[in-house]
Amino acid sequence: MEITKTIDDTRQQITNLRSGGKKIALVPTMGALHKGHITLIQLAKQHADHVVVSIFVNPEQFAPNEDYNTYPRELEEDLEKCRREGVSLVFAPAREAVYDDEKFLSIKVSSLNGHMCGGSRPGFFEGVLLIVNKLFNIIQPDLAVFGQKDIQQFQIIRAMVQEFNHSIELMLAPIERANDGLALSSRNAYLKSDERVIAPGLYRALTYVEKQINDGVHTPKLMLEHQKSELEAKGFRIDYLNVFSRKTLQPVTVLKENTQYIIAGAVWLGNTRLIDNILIDL
Ligand code: PAJ
Repeated sequence: MEITKTIDDTRQQITNLRSGGKKIALVPTMGALHKGHITLIQLAKQHADHVVVSIFVNPEQFAPNEDYNTYPRELEEDLEKCRREGVSLVFAPAREAVYDDEKFLSIKVSSLNGHMCGGSRPGFFEGVLLIVNKLFNIIQPDLAVFGQKDIQQFQIIRAMVQEFNHSIELMLAPIERANDGLALSSRNAYLKSDERVIAPGLYRALTYVEKQINDGVHTPKLMLEHQKSELEAKGFRIDYLNVFSRKTLQPVTVLKENTQYIIAGAVWLGNTRLIDNILIDL
């Protein structure tokens, strides 16, 4: 497995990997790899000759009050995990290798980010698109794999690929969960033991809403209010819990047949923000 730190070295390695018409899949990550990331790598491996993993805690997607400095960094363990999965190349740059001090351009997301995480984390998806756009240009993969856990991120990256004409196939990998239902996340490491015990409550609330919708409740407002109160009573602070259109990512009040929705929530437990979602096709 090759490990690169600079854009030039990465491009050189990619040229080598691509020789003979080999297909390359990219799995972008911020490291502290867990089973969710491994699922993405394995899916990538099934569809390409070489898997490239990027490991970079992207400063541009953290607001000043967020956890950029404390975000877990475990490069040695991550490299070992990548080696075990047969990854061909890990691109793990320092901040200076990716960002110049001088910057004349930015990417603006003009819709799809007014609600869900975009609503509560202004500038977040612009930061994500900036790095993903760079990674796509540096590595020029045939395929890139992202997780459903960050479904809004996937939808916005998909819009970028379409509107900016990246010739890259995107794949969505399902959410990997702990045995008790909690969606795996690098940030779960922040949870105190008592918080970890109640954390699966978010997924339970989402599955309850899913069941009610499947049982015919098509105006979810009241049950969402009820689920929010229950979560608050357990000690969660609610950022959002709602049903969104899969296409527009806008909240919906009345659900229609033959339409795709996302039941999604973001909550705080102490200083830890958890997100989760369930896709539903009516
Ligand atoms: P990160 O949070 O490290 O996640 C990297 C990828 O792993 C994302 O596509 C995410 O959706 C996926 N993932 C995380 N937890 C998962 C789980 N439990 N099951 C399945 N997939 C999971 O998302 C980012 O990094 C960054 O925003 C990035 C795209 C790398 C840009 O900086």
